[in-house]
Amino acid sequence: MLLIETRDTEEMSLRAAEQIAALLTLKRDAVLGLATGSTPIGAYAKLAQWHKENALSFRQVKTVNLDEYRGLSPQSPDSYRWFMNHHLFQHVDIDMQNTHVPNGLAEDVREECARYDALIESLHGIDLQLLGIGMNGHIGFNEPASTITLETHCVTLSENTREVNAAYFASKDAMPTEAITMGMRPILQARRVLLVAAANKRGIIEKALFGPVTPEVPASLLQLHKRLTVVLARS
Ligand code: GLP
Repeated sequence: MLLIETRDTEEMSLRAAEQIAALLTLKRDAVLGLATGSTPIGAYAKLAQWHKENALSFRQVKTVNLDEYRGLSPQSPDSYRWFMNHHLFQHVDIDMQNTHVPNGLAEDVREECARYDALIESLHGIDLQLLGIGMNGHIGFNEPASTITLETHCVTLSENTREVNAAYFASKDAMPTEAITMGMRPILQARRVLLVAAANKRGIIEKALFGPVTPEVPASLLQLHKRLTVVLARS
């Protein structure tokens, strides 16, 4: 594991964006696993800026996002599809057909989960998986549990996650209770994992990286990954 501690969140975003840009320079048709939440916003802004300055192209890049709320349409500003379009995809030269987010409106959720796993497989896996971390150690929406779920699945969001993420919604009641999330298999099989965390996540980062490996702290499973880079802001 490579642990990069940064002075602040500005530098955290820069370091994270540099890792992604370096990969895209070496492999123009990379498959990126992408994340939502407040943590990666600054890194996405840097990537958009470098694209604008003609330093970076996403023309051949393919992306698969970690998760999506159930019941939200792609047009909903609370959906992760909207988040990705708004924070990254609209600002770069990516082919929108090559961007993938689980369909939160799928009627048959099992079929949607199977479709998403088959899609990731058809892309031959993920070159770099970008991750944030939940306050309870969740990655994507792989919530603390007694067992590991490997496949894409529908999850009932934990009380903790609903409380923390309610901040992004008009009220806690407006927040969906379920989500579709990539399972642990494609995350752990990604050729590289880039975990990014602001200073308020220091406690859970320490627990995940230096505590016991357990599905009760889903991010702790990343200790098993060969090429894990963690970017952690000091303030
Ligand atoms: C959500 C997402 C996660 C993300 C987490 C942390 O729950 N499903 O992928 O890592 O939020 O969000 P934030 O970066 O806003 O703290």
